[in-house]
Amino acid sequence: MVKMETAELDTDLSLFKYDTLEQLPSRYRDLEEEERTDRIEAALEELGDDVVILGHNYQRREIVEHADFIGDSYQLSTEAAEADAEYVIFGGVTFMAESADIITDDDQSVILPSMEASCPMAGMAEALQVDSAWAEITAAAPDDEIIPITYMNSYADLKAFCASQGGLVCTSSNAHEAFEYAFEKGDKVLFLPDKHLGENTAHRLDMEDEIAEWDPWDPEGKDADEVAESDIILWDGYCQVHERFREEHIEEIRADNPDANVIVHPECRREVVEAADVAGSTATICETVANADPGETWAIGTEIHLTNHLQRWHPEVDVVPLCGDACMDCNAMRQIDPNYLAWVLEELAEGREHNVIEVAPEEKELAGVALDRMLEI
Ligand code: 13P
Ligand code: SF4
Repeated sequence: MVKMETAELDTDLSLFKYDTLEQLPSRYRDLEEEERTDRIEAALEELGDDVVILGHNYQRREIVEHADFIGDSYQLSTEAAEADAEYVIFGGVTFMAESADIITDDDQSVILPSMEASCPMAGMAEALQVDSAWAEITAAAPDDEIIPITYMNSYADLKAFCASQGGLVCTSSNAHEAFEYAFEKGDKVLFLPDKHLGENTAHRLDMEDEIAEWDPWDPEGKDADEVAESDIILWDGYCQVHERFREEHIEEIRADNPDANVIVHPECRREVVEAADVAGSTATICETVANADPGETWAIGTEIHLTNHLQRWHPEVDVVPLCGDACMDCNAMRQIDPNYLAWVLEELAEGREHNVIEVAPEEKELAGVALDRMLEI
């Protein structure tokens, strides 16, 4: 077994992708909900068609109730592509706002209300680090064409890198199609950054025996022989919200109520997806609960805000969190505080823009290619 050296990297890994974005002014910190809602509505009234608000399913109630569209990351990227408004206010995390900036026209601006909404999983595959790993991985399989696929949950520079190597972007709702596209073009797939979505997709394609893992932080976790022998190489990233779900949680739910149905997001561990009745993106989870018969029980294995929304939206269905009180909210999504929403909207109504997400032009074009390839599959 040939072990590889850990690459020396001189990266500037920071917690926030855009640490130049502005923090909330103190006068907005202690707004009461009622006053804040009135002020948000007044600003929206004034801004009219100039503004559209997109809200990811994991956003707080106080955000999604103001959203023009609520959806998963795929749905929101198609909404962004179709939006005519001058300003797209993104209730989501940085990588989603970047994708919206790439997809929208140059005369539209994308605003992320809070600079702190940075997804930790996206930070697990920095483009510089992947570029360095790419040299090692391609050297391990010199006769094979490797197609990189990055999950939407990654930054624009990594999307651009994937496009430059013939690859593309996928979301949790089309990962299997992205893999099929890649295998038509090449011999192997490098999938980043979510190893669980990668493993679950490999199973869906009956390719579970073709997996090698690549842990960029551990020399022992990078095996050139395995890369040479495997068709699917999985980057060792994960979502800490979805990793928390365990098979025991499903066993407990079923012991309590043998009729309960379990649906989980494919960012969950393989054994959890296998034990569940259904696995799917947040849009699939929403549709499944919307189509459930009254009185059915659905245990939901995903971020807790979505579970709470589903309880409110479908009171006729018994919607329960899969891991009870241990279920987590996403710390990155939670940073989009409604006080920030009030601030960016009121400022816009006064003609002042804050927290505009602008992907660098050289990355924008290539990352756009990777996104377009996804939208076409
Ligand atoms: P989807 O919106 O693609 O289901 O992804 C879930 C997620 O973790 C977003 O951060
Ligand atoms: Fe990132 Fe997980 Fe939060 Fe999604 S739920 S934004 S993958 S940390």
